[in-house]
Amino acid sequence: MNKPIKKAIIPAAGLGTRFLPATKTVPKEMLTVVDAPIIFYVVEEAISAGIEDIILIQGRGKTAIEDFFDTSYELEDKLARDKKFHILERLTQIRSMANIISIRQKQPLGLGHAVLCAQSIIGDDPFAVLLGDEIMIPHETETQNTLGQMVQAYNQTSHSTVAIMEVLPEDVSKYGIADIESTLTSPYRVKGFIEKPSMQKAPSRWALPGRYILKHNIFDHLANATPGAQGELQLTDAMDKIAKKEPFFATPFKADRYDAGDKLGYLKANIEVALKHPELKEALSHYLRHELLPNLNKKG
Ligand code: UTP
Repeated sequence: MNKPIKKAIIPAAGLGTRFLPATKTVPKEMLTVVDAPIIFYVVEEAISAGIEDIILIQGRGKTAIEDFFDTSYELEDKLARDKKFHILERLTQIRSMANIISIRQKQPLGLGHAVLCAQSIIGDDPFAVLLGDEIMIPHETETQNTLGQMVQAYNQTSHSTVAIMEVLPEDVSKYGIADIESTLTSPYRVKGFIEKPSMQKAPSRWALPGRYILKHNIFDHLANATPGAQGELQLTDAMDKIAKKEPFFATPFKADRYDAGDKLGYLKANIEVALKHPELKEALSHYLRHELLPNLNKKG
């Protein structure tokens, strides 16, 4: 019987250079999607998928993330006195559901290094990794969110399993790419991984959008790894070593995914979330249909 997936690492210590100048002082994971920071949606996904311990990897100047998940006594007291219970409930919901453990990555040496920082807390357990700037909006028809779908896949295989999505050929160089053995039955067996390959060198168009379930043997490979692409310790390189030795699986998922660490992805996430928000959906939809689109069409 598999050990259940109860721990998740959320790396959020990157420099966020694609979002400068905003990210000079504000961590990109704290940029707002409608009315909550990006990382709120990521933590919410983890909790709904059954995660109990969340290990946040934070960098210098990112204490705003830790503070966000902490109690704000004065604010909560004021909201209670003002009887603004619906806002209070939203504020207290996340911190009461998950145990948030915060670790400092002293230098942004890459995603692999960020994951390695959590080794002593993970111990021998299998665990999830959710990138702190990737938002997954579940399809209304799905009972499980992306991480939940992955936990199901992991329970089938008992081996490390990553989420994959098909991207356009010109986009493969932006992602870690999986070399898939066959797509006949899901989860798919993976032969290897390559970080940000050129279009010519990419073994497939199956990209890694930032959701992983890994076994603790990844730490041995990370600890012995040498920096790869862009001088960073790459998680993809360590996964490649494991996939070449033992079964490793990948599974497509059913959800809308937004790279909120990228300006266009961030804007799309805001629109999509707002179009589902009870207070905004009608007004925004009216604006998009009747003001923005006609204007765009006029401009041609
Ligand atoms: P990204 O490569 O998207 O983050 O890493 P970045 O380096 O901050 O982005 P840009 O390209 O400079 O804009 C994916 C996730 O991994 C975390 C990031 O915070 C992000 O959530 N990360 C990355 C770390 O925690 N540590 C690192 O050393 C690198």
